[in-house]
Amino acid sequence: MEDLAGKVAVVTGGASGIGRGICRRLAAAGLDVAVADIDADGACAVAAELRESGVRALGLAVDVGDRESVIALADRTVAELGGVHVVCNNAGVIVGGALCDATEDDWRWVLSVNLGGVVNGCTVFAPRLIEQGQGGQIVNTASVGGLLAGPGLSLYCTSKFAVVGLSQSLRAELAPHSIGVSTLCPAAVRTKLIDADRNRPGELAQAGGGAEMMRAAVESGIDPDVVGDCVVRGIRSDAAYIFTHPSYRDVFDGHFQSVLAAFDT
Ligand SMILES: NC(=O)c1ccc[n+]([C@@H]2O[C@H](COP(=O)([O-])OP(=O)(O)OC[C@H]3O[C@@H](n4cnc5c(N)ncnc54)[C@H](O)[C@@H]3O)[C@@H](O)[C@H]2O)c1
Repeated sequence: MEDLAGKVAVVTGGASGIGRGICRRLAAAGLDVAVADIDADGACAVAAELRESGVRALGLAVDVGDRESVIALADRTVAELGGVHVVCNNAGVIVGGALCDATEDDWRWVLSVNLGGVVNGCTVFAPRLIEQGQGGQIVNTASVGGLLAGPGLSLYCTSKFAVVGLSQSLRAELAPHSIGVSTLCPAAVRTKLIDADRNRPGELAQAGGGAEMMRAAVESGIDPDVVGDCVVRGIRSDAAYIFTHPSYRDVFDGHFQSVLAAFDT
């Protein structure tokens, strides 16, 4: 999608961190934006900031793990902004710690938001993009943890590996409709991700793990607006993967060399 001005975007998890950075950079590129988040006040505050830059913007409440809520988000976006062309399925949470310490509630919460949110976003919005017949772009937020796994991140990486797989399949399915699918794979970004528990539902409160071990890395991460710039470039070029940390090239090189070496054993 080269021509972005006047198009409409929806961004989940738009109230904070990477989602807010994406919203800010999409608005700077001239898109109208539906800022959607479980934190409705935060979404409205970001939308108000975007309106000051001259675009139309809505702050909307959504729980991405709840399909009905995502359908309502799509309905309102189309009704109030006149269509939808860019969908950023970005809302996410983290639970760290050893697999053996994770509770059933940990699994349900992480998979419901990180994977269920992307499933709902894709299955609700993709048919509308197809029906609209104007092409478009879906950007699913995974992580470098969607391609590389390490200790203490089994729940998170399970959800993010699944997002990578879903996105690759969907990219091939939607290409004939001129709808691109990009997988966003950031490393550390300075956001509130480590305090994701602030949005944890009461019925899934039994926690076995925590994400404190990741705090120092996240707090020393890159600015979320830089990720927003990468996303806008990725949308313009229909990038299959959007990487934000060039220094990870060597890490990936080592990883995939070891995968290829397994063919020789
Ligand atoms: N920060 C990093 O280092 C990093 C690295 C790689 C990937 N990511 C991914 O980036 C995405 C954004 O996270 P962030 O780092 O900006 O964290 P963040 O906590 O600053 O923002 C996440 C947003 O998602 C919202 N949210 C949580 N649960 C929700 C739900 N059920 N429905 C709707 N909204 C919900 C939160 O209210 C928040 O506004 C996540 O998918 C995360 O996994 C982050």
